Amino acid sequence: MRQVKTLGLLGTGVIGGGWAARALHFGIDVVAADVKGEMEAWIRGAVENAEGALSRLTFAPLPPKGKLSFTTDLNLMAGSVDFIQENIPEQLELKQRILAQVSRHAPRDVLIASSTSGLMPSDLQRDLQHPERLLVGHPFNPVYLLPLVELVGGKTTSADALEAAARFYRYIGMHPLKVRREVPGHLTDRLQEALWREILHMVNDGVATTGELDESIIYGPGLRWAGMGTNLIYHLAGGETGMRHMLRQFGPCLKWPWTKLEAPELTEELIDRMVEGTQEQAAGRSIRELERLRDDYLVAIQQVLRQFNLGAGATLRALEERLYEEGAANARPALEAAAVGASTPAVLRLVETQVRPEWVDYNGHMTDSRYLQVFGDATDALLRYAGVDDVYRRSGRALYTVETHVTHQAEARALEPLYVASRVLEVDAKRVRLFHALHRRRDDVQVATAEQLYLHVNSTAGKAAPMDPEVQARLAALQAAQAPLPLPREAGRLARGAH
Ligand SMILES: NC(=O)c1ccc[n+]([C@@H]2O[C@H](COP(=O)([O-])OP(=O)(O)OC[C@H]3O[C@@H](n4cnc5c(N)ncnc54)[C@H](O)[C@@H]3O)[C@@H](O)[C@H]2O)c1
Repeated sequence: MRQVKTLGLLGTGVIGGGWAARALHFGIDVVAADVKGEMEAWIRGAVENAEGALSRLTFAPLPPKGKLSFTTDLNLMAGSVDFIQENIPEQLELKQRILAQVSRHAPRDVLIASSTSGLMPSDLQRDLQHPERLLVGHPFNPVYLLPLVELVGGKTTSADALEAAARFYRYIGMHPLKVRREVPGHLTDRLQEALWREILHMVNDGVATTGELDESIIYGPGLRWAGMGTNLIYHLAGGETGMRHMLRQFGPCLKWPWTKLEAPELTEELIDRMVEGTQEQAAGRSIRELERLRDDYLVAIQQVLRQFNLGAGATLRALEERLYEEGAANARPALEAAAVGASTPAVLRLVETQVRPEWVDYNGHMTDSRYLQVFGDATDALLRYAGVDDVYRRSGRALYTVETHVTHQAEARALEPLYVASRVLEVDAKRVRLFHALHRRRDDVQVATAEQLYLHVNSTAGKAAPMDPEVQARLAALQAAQAPLPLPREAGRLARGAH
């Protein structure tokens, strides 16, 4: 299966728009195809709308954004992309026909995934050319923020196709959940439907309003679910003996039973109750307003879960680790050349970035804290090259910042492309002194500098300790290679660092 550089979207409504935003954000080009030409403006708007929350999800260094193009020619799209994600309306015959059509124009090694909420992949692959490359990749709205994607293979789907699709989805920050066997509704929608059906019954029977039923989730189970799901949480509900005790205690209720197996008839009266109830809950707020609120808290929740390396937070952490690793890998050739003295002593360009719109303060300039973040990314790239990576940190050793001196010299406005040039000024067994200069790419003007002193510590003991000799040697080689360069005039201002 080929590496995915360009994603093709078949159908660019709510879900197609979500896929586009996510893929573009992580550096994948997108060719969006829809039968309706007017969807071009719609998808461009949807991508722009998603960008606000998406750009706050992680501050790890990102590759340049992908490029979006649009066509009404489905076959043209199929012939020019590396992976096709289908998001047309949920009608089996329509999907079968269109999927078969595009499969005749997509090269054999191009995977085709369907976003279907409940159709079975074996039915979708019926008329396909090379049906082994079709699978279900079922996402959740908003696709650009929720990492879950259910992966389901049909009768003829190859294991390679599922593996390659999982790799691609992981690359764009998702959590592929492989469904062992195709069943209508996959896993999540089956669970959601059970809850939804009970809601309809209770509203229909006048037991509760839509608002009260939402409260019954928001203030309780909803909070638990995000980190642990239903089963692990029930395991905790059983006390010391866990799930076994829980089942003994509550198992008999399953015979009563509390719930119903079929949804109630969708009468006009029930529909009215559902609509009036949710309108009351919206309290005059537009769908757009509510979407923004939802997106903001979805970002915040994932950032909290990241601290616990739990659920969607663990996915975010893994994504960031890759982004930092890739940022460092881009800087590596320059570092290697400098360390062996292959080039004339050079200041190293370690980070290429641009001022993201949300980094800007009320003056329209990049805000103070973002300077530290960008300098931190340069330090990260340099230290990873020296060998201080995740494995090193997990061994209980790390470099702590003990002092920073920042100067601000010119303005950087939103979307301004920037780069960081770095030097190792000094290194011994326990300390490293670095100097970073942030430049505008368009005219090389120096925007800011940072001189930073790092102390090597044994993080378990909480004490300064010598670094790994190999790490020190790599840093020392860089320092020696750069030593002939004149000392920057902003350097040497640290209270503790300057010898
Ligand atoms: N909305 C959700 O919450 C959600 C969540 C997960 C999965 N899905 C699944 O994603 C798919 C799309 O759902 P949606 O909510 O984005 O629908 P939507 O109605 O918003 O978008 C469908 C798009 O497909 C286009 N289209 C129709 N026929 C086409 C054709 N022959 N070729 C190309 N484009 C065509 C339409 O013009 C429209 O832009 C469905 O299979 C749905 O089950 C939806």
